[in-house]
Amino acid sequence: MPNNIFTPQWRPKVHFTPEKNWMNDPNGLVYYNGQYHLFYQYNPHGNDWGNMNWGHATSTDLINWQHHPVAIEMDVQGLGYIYSGSAVVDFDNTSGLQQGEHPPLVALFTHTQAGCETQRQSLAYSTDGGFNWLQYDNNPVIDNPGLVDFRDPKVFWHKQSQRWILVLTAGHQIDFYASENLLNWQFISSFGEDEGCHGGEWECPDLFELTTGEDETKWVLLVSLVPGGPNGGNGTQYFIGDFDGQTFTAEHQDVRWLDYGPDNYAGVTWDGKQSLDNRRTLIAWMSNWIYAADMPTFPWRGAMCLPRDLLLVKRNHQYFIANQPAKEIDDNLIVFEQKAQTNTKLSTELPTDSALDIKISSQLEQTDKLYIRLTNDLGELVELKYLPAQQKILVDRSKAGWQYKLWRTPRIEAFTHTCDSDINCRLVLDSSSLEVFWQDGTTSMTICLLPTEAFNKIEVDTAEVSGKTINVSRIKHTDS
Ligand code: FRU
Repeated sequence: MPNNIFTPQWRPKVHFTPEKNWMNDPNGLVYYNGQYHLFYQYNPHGNDWGNMNWGHATSTDLINWQHHPVAIEMDVQGLGYIYSGSAVVDFDNTSGLQQGEHPPLVALFTHTQAGCETQRQSLAYSTDGGFNWLQYDNNPVIDNPGLVDFRDPKVFWHKQSQRWILVLTAGHQIDFYASENLLNWQFISSFGEDEGCHGGEWECPDLFELTTGEDETKWVLLVSLVPGGPNGGNGTQYFIGDFDGQTFTAEHQDVRWLDYGPDNYAGVTWDGKQSLDNRRTLIAWMSNWIYAADMPTFPWRGAMCLPRDLLLVKRNHQYFIANQPAKEIDDNLIVFEQKAQTNTKLSTELPTDSALDIKISSQLEQTDKLYIRLTNDLGELVELKYLPAQQKILVDRSKAGWQYKLWRTPRIEAFTHTCDSDINCRLVLDSSSLEVFWQDGTTSMTICLLPTEAFNKIEVDTAEVSGKTINVSRIKHTDS
């Protein structure tokens, strides 16, 4: 399909998309003065990857976004493209960059020159609360130590050692740097050469603390990689362990995936917010490098997943991360339909004018399978199948509408932590995407779908008669 045909039917209602042109990774996620800033890898000149700048949008509720001009611009004559990175609020003005009433917002990102591709870390700052950005005169602030892959810095204030810590990918590992002032950085340690999945390049790390409901705290390191994801192409693995201010140590050997879907990549969390309401909210690019450039959406190409709150959960003495839609989504639901029934099948109509939040519950016999099907009047279908005996969820998008030959993962597989008989599943359906949050989000899957017409029916099906409920809500957004 030529990529200059307008496709409003696939424009998500509550998921972030740029007004036009190419977008990939989220960058510079920072919360300041009541606003969530979302910067992103952006090509202002076309619908393909290239000319990388930081695009910019803000939101007060993570659902409705206001678009702003490009925030950090590439300079072909200078240090080059602006690749991924992060931003923090320098409340104590450790950088000395403050001018006026706002503390400086400081972004650390990778500069890379097209052609020679030397990746170096640079700094930009804003003195007006995050809207206008200046590049620092003495860039780069971390020079390349002789590596091809040396990028995607994520910075945070480490309160225990009262200094800034920066993590970035360096070859096939993560390097850690420390700084007193965000300007001068010292290498302190590395992690991961022999740990986790190395099926592809490591990219876009993030490091933060999470606390369980029982007040146990762990450090979590996210590492995206491509290829090598659980269903082909990209994926994000996480390590749970400890960071003592100097080194990170993982407490498990197995590979753990943040999301099993093929369309969740380069996810990182908002800085500056954790201290406000004790949440860690993540957003990720909702696409896959193996087909992103062929997605037929126009005039934009690329969307973000729904912002998610990350939770630390404990199962059989081990810690895992659960994903749940950010709590702002709960605050914006309008109930459309609630149905309960004891039978083998329960189905209901779906409105097609809004993004939907669909909560499903079912009681299962141990070996009973569960099917959830979304369909439209053209007979297009996406089917989720749960196999409790194998603790597996399979999603088949091969009959869900438009497909490109490079849509290499028509059948998507995920694993669950337990085979409980009381199942809860939350689905978020929004024009061209489906997000699955299984058993309170302990397994999640992000999946792009391109149905010819919107799905307008859902069915929950079990072989044995069982109690089932479906609650469908519209997610409110500004034009609804
Ligand atoms: C991840 C990534 C980053 C890089 C950016 C370039 O998707 O490859 O490693 O900074 O995209 O757009």
